[in-house]
Amino acid sequence: MLGTAAGGGFPQWNCACATCADPTLPPRTQDGLAISADGSNWYLVNASPDIRTQILATPVLRAGPGLRETPIRGVFLTDAELDHTLGLMMLREGAGLDVHAPPAVLAALRDDFAVRPMVGRYGAWTWSTVNSDQYVGGLRVKVLAVSNKQPKYVTGAAAGPWVVAYRFEDPATGGVLVYAPCLASWPEGFDEFVDGAAYVLLDGTFYDGGELAAKADATSKAQTVMGHLPIEASLDHIRKLSAAQPGTAWSYTHLNNTNPALNPATVQYAGIRAAGVKVPPDGTALEL
Ligand code: MLT
Ligand code: MN
Ligand code: ZN
Repeated sequence: MLGTAAGGGFPQWNCACATCADPTLPPRTQDGLAISADGSNWYLVNASPDIRTQILATPVLRAGPGLRETPIRGVFLTDAELDHTLGLMMLREGAGLDVHAPPAVLAALRDDFAVRPMVGRYGAWTWSTVNSDQYVGGLRVKVLAVSNKQPKYVTGAAAGPWVVAYRFEDPATGGVLVYAPCLASWPEGFDEFVDGAAYVLLDGTFYDGGELAAKADATSKAQTVMGHLPIEASLDHIRKLSAAQPGTAWSYTHLNNTNPALNPATVQYAGIRAAGVKVPPDGTALEL
């Protein structure tokens, strides 16, 4: 887990709230994963603006063995949001990467946030539509459309799906990881999508439905508008699924700076842990 915070990271540079100001809480970079079937070829899942720091902090991702070689082969995008795509620009010094994303995301990265034509002038990038079931780099990759939340920078309404969740299966070990950092609701088909998963990493942007309103003086519907199912709602689903399927480890990621779960001393954090769910820090390694 390269990063575990929502857009802006934690602490957020323009926020003076008590959580952001608490020097005892570990900082978190913007969410993303690096995943590998063989330990030498790696794929990023989302490319945050923190990607340079994340790569340098992760020994398996450091350059080599050749002078200009890197173990990073490609990128999977869950959506086109800037916290998940600005990092593509930061990777322009390389030879180019294979990027896999839903069609609406690929179109946005060509027409609205024109990273594709730009990085294409620096390297040999390829852009592929993710299929519902395919093999990439020795991993079986499945996608589920989870939301139609369109990035703010996209002008005009375009057809989605705008956000997907990924299910990565290692055919050698049978290990399964599901990554779903942006959930507008508990999606149709999600119970089946996580079936048999060893790890599920879930949208933990907000703890409750009024959090952003309380902090930013916005309307109480702010979270729904932002397209993030609050933890207090997803915990109920997790409790039900955990009872039926105790083999799955659940964690929250993409935490917003307003989220009380960033602080282990809060009752909200205690409630999450009581449900058997974790809030892992940046740098957490998961083995499938
Ligand atoms: C989100 O997750 O809702 C977006 O990243 C928000 C944003 O940064 O515009
Ligand atoms: Mn985000
Ligand atoms: Zn804050």
